[in-house]
Amino acid sequence: MRFGIIGAGPIALNISKKLVENGHDVKIADARSIERLEGKELAGTPVNVNEVITNIDVLVISIPLHALPSIRNIVDQAGEDVVILDTSNYYPYRDNKIHEIEKGMVESVWVSNQLGRPITKAFNNLLAYTLEHKGTPEGTRGRIAIAIAGDNQLHKQITMNIVNELGFDPVDSGSLSDSWRQQPGTPAYCTELTKEELTEALNKANKEKAPFLRDEVMERLSAANGGYSHQDIVNLNRDIFSS
Ligand SMILES: NC(=O)c1ccc[n+]([C@@H]2O[C@H](COP(=O)([O-])OP(=O)(O)OC[C@H]3O[C@@H](n4cnc5c(N)ncnc54)[C@H](OP(=O)(O)O)[C@@H]3O)[C@@H](O)[C@H]2O)c1
Repeated sequence: MRFGIIGAGPIALNISKKLVENGHDVKIADARSIERLEGKELAGTPVNVNEVITNIDVLVISIPLHALPSIRNIVDQAGEDVVILDTSNYYPYRDNKIHEIEKGMVESVWVSNQLGRPITKAFNNLLAYTLEHKGTPEGTRGRIAIAIAGDNQLHKQITMNIVNELGFDPVDSGSLSDSWRQQPGTPAYCTELTKEELTEALNKANKEKAPFLRDEVMERLSAANGGYSHQDIVNLNRDIFSS
């Protein structure tokens, strides 16, 4: 398949690397300037953001949530059939407080409104380290699962196939308005669960508590000043987000 990727952070770079390894055609762009790609370990072809949108089947957007409105004019140019796959999460300390989300709007619904079109939410509920190091072939015992939400069933199925190909069990987490169940602060968020465990975790999510639990984990992590290993973070998420 033909992919365009906007963003070149840890999530986008790992997705692009795995897509290229799987034989896909991948272009990658920085939302602000192609120069910002210099020095990054890229897989795929670096292009200007205006070029990333042409002749593709899937557009992966992987930039901070607050920056998403700045690429609306780019996304507007994508054909209607193009799957728009967004990996973003809302963190008020980084994204500044977004009034509508603070008032309860589901993060991906806000993203979809900002971009003016449907999106599929995926790759948001695993850490970059998990994406890079913990993918396994289909059928592996204990395989880690990823939640995929969206309103367009065909786009969701395409995204689920990609997730499977990249080493993770896809779990259909419902419509975009259900996707609060995989937002930061929920038991499904970055806790490295199997398909069965993730399905259960999505059901257990508590919308009101999630923002407080998200902030609690962030406070603990910043107080530790880098003193947590990857496994410590997963364990901390499991403890706090299920409390
Ligand atoms: N890291 C994780 O473990 C993780 C897990 C799940 C989901 N996510 C979500 O996935 C998205 C990408 O996260 P990430 O950690 O991979 O990378 P990131 O640090 O959010 O950076 C991603 C890309 O966005 C660019 N960028 C930064 N500020 C921007 C702005 N104001 N306007 C346009 N582009 C900007 C960065 O460019 P520069 O490199 O030049 O700054 C980089 O190319 C985020 O929404 C994040 O919440 C992250």
